Amino acid sequence: MSLTCWLTFHKSFCLASISPFFWHVSDLHLDPTYHLTDDHTKVCASSKGANASNPGPFGDFLCDSPYQLILSAFKYMKNSQQPASFMIWTGDSPPHVPVKELSTQTVINIIGNMSSTLRSFFPDLQVFPVLGNHDYWPQDQLPPAASEVYNAVANFWKPWLTEEAISTFQKGGFYTQLFHSSMSSQPLRIISLNTNLYYSPNIVTLNLTDPAEQLAWLESVLEISLQKKEKVYIIGHVPVGYLPYARYITAIRRYYNERLIKIFRKYSAVIAGQFFGHTHRDSIMILLDEKAKPINSLFVAPAVTPVKSRLQKLSNNPGVRLYQYDPFNYSLLDIWQFYMDLRDANKRNESNWKLEYILTKAYGIEDLKPESLYGMAKQFSVPHSKQFQQYYRHYFVNYNTSVVCNKHCKTSHMCAIQYLDHLAPGRAQRTKEPQEGHTGRRLAFVSG
Ligand SMILES: *[C@@H]1O[C@H](CO)[C@@H](O)[C@H](O)[C@H]1NC(C)=O
Ligand SMILES: *[C@@H]1O[C@H](CO)[C@@H](O)[C@H](O)[C@H]1NC(C)=O
Ligand SMILES: *[C@@H]1O[C@H](CO)[C@@H](O)[C@H](O)[C@H]1NC(C)=O
Ligand SMILES: *[C@@H]1O[C@H](CO)[C@@H](O)[C@H](O)[C@H]1NC(C)=O
Ligand SMILES: *[C@@H]1O[C@H](CO)[C@@H](O)[C@H](O)[C@H]1NC(C)=O
Ligand SMILES: *[C@@H]1O[C@H](CO)[C@@H](O)[C@H](O)[C@H]1NC(C)=O
Ligand SMILES: [Zn+2]
Repeated sequence: MSLTCWLTFHKSFCLASISPFFWHVSDLHLDPTYHLTDDHTKVCASSKGANASNPGPFGDFLCDSPYQLILSAFKYMKNSQQPASFMIWTGDSPPHVPVKELSTQTVINIIGNMSSTLRSFFPDLQVFPVLGNHDYWPQDQLPPAASEVYNAVANFWKPWLTEEAISTFQKGGFYTQLFHSSMSSQPLRIISLNTNLYYSPNIVTLNLTDPAEQLAWLESVLEISLQKKEKVYIIGHVPVGYLPYARYITAIRRYYNERLIKIFRKYSAVIAGQFFGHTHRDSIMILLDEKAKPINSLFVAPAVTPVKSRLQKLSNNPGVRLYQYDPFNYSLLDIWQFYMDLRDANKRNESNWKLEYILTKAYGIEDLKPESLYGMAKQFSVPHSKQFQQYYRHYFVNYNTSVVCNKHCKTSHMCAIQYLDHLAPGRAQRTKEPQEGHTGRRLAFVSG
């Protein structure tokens, strides 16, 4: 039995529980050039020549993370004293800067820095890492074969991964590994996918039906899991499904999305949860089967970096989260989402990480089972739903609590929550489908 309390500005939340937790951090995007100086165009390379908006010790909304911000997040997680069984880390360590300002060596150094910084805070914690589209040089071009980056990163991650995991990682940037729980005789299987192989801007994998044969590998791992009655968590950087801020645009190429979703439907009985990053925003997806029955819960965690492009109106505050799970069958019970109010932290020159929301409390649901989340989505769809307004605030990690999602915006979010592929049951007929195709135009968005 453990008792944990979080002090927030107004009240404290305490938790007495036998159900264990795991951490999820994503999109650290360290900008080593970040420093305070009077010329705001020189604060960080990631502002790409623009004036930083209001730079302070913990960062700026036009910059990627100062090292100080990342340290404050890890310090808060460590000081919370929350016993966590393990951590998932869904990728993207380097900053958003033009390709020519980085190199294979600088990208490797930054991933190495983030790996050893993380390990120095949590020396005994099992971490399951994932590669992101920025964890390569040139960015997005992760190859379907061995590479200098995969090799170097495999060395950084050796303390966390088995020999077998390291061997598939070196060949294609993905792996599977068991987590042995002290509370259950049944281990949990983690499958860390390299979904960057499917990302639209990746021209190296253009025309390949199964880059690095990851899809075939995934099916064979899931088939064995089914036979052994295992439970699986899927972790990845670029999520499956549709982007919540745009219509009809999948985060990965449509062809790969359809294939992955088909596999996830087939093996939904063994998949107890799916976890991604990349969009830098907090969102939820529910996978439905052919009869529109909810069968899987998918979560996209917000970023630690607060960066946005000059043209974007909104960004996210830095966030990290805990998932609570059933120790016997790994069924997901809750999310504790934490964040830093960046403007306030900078103003007071003080780290102010705190609880943002507890998912079941915020939306009035029992747990994170697909059926429970589907009930939540039904509540969201009601006009002027207060719960949906909260979801939209959480989407930006309280960046601006007074923003409203108009009808068009809400339709995009509701579609992304409930429909993950073209053939999704119950999906409204569409007359025009833009050809995203194999060229995969880069989105105006700051590209995960
Ligand atoms: C940055 O701000 C300074 C001072 O306000 C201004 O002179 C300069 O033009 C700005 N630079 C850019 C790139 O916006
Ligand atoms: C990581 O990078 C930061 C910022 O550039 C630097 O201060 C720190 O010493 C580096 N740490 C390691 C372990 O490389
Ligand atoms: C992919 O296929 C198209 C059409 O067959 C071809 O024009 C293109 O060169 C191919 N691209 C690569 C990278 O192989
Ligand atoms: C997991 O086990 C708990 C009891 O410990 C049970 O209430 C729950 O329904 C189970 N979840 C699934 C998905 O089987
Ligand atoms: C902010 O806090 C740090 C350490 O807590 C201190 O070293 C620094 O001088 C402070 N900066 C300002 C502007 O007060
Ligand atoms: C927050 O959004 C409201 C409504 O769109 C706007 O008036 C306000 O200026 C925004 N605040 C910030 C800090 O961006
Ligand atoms: Zn990112």
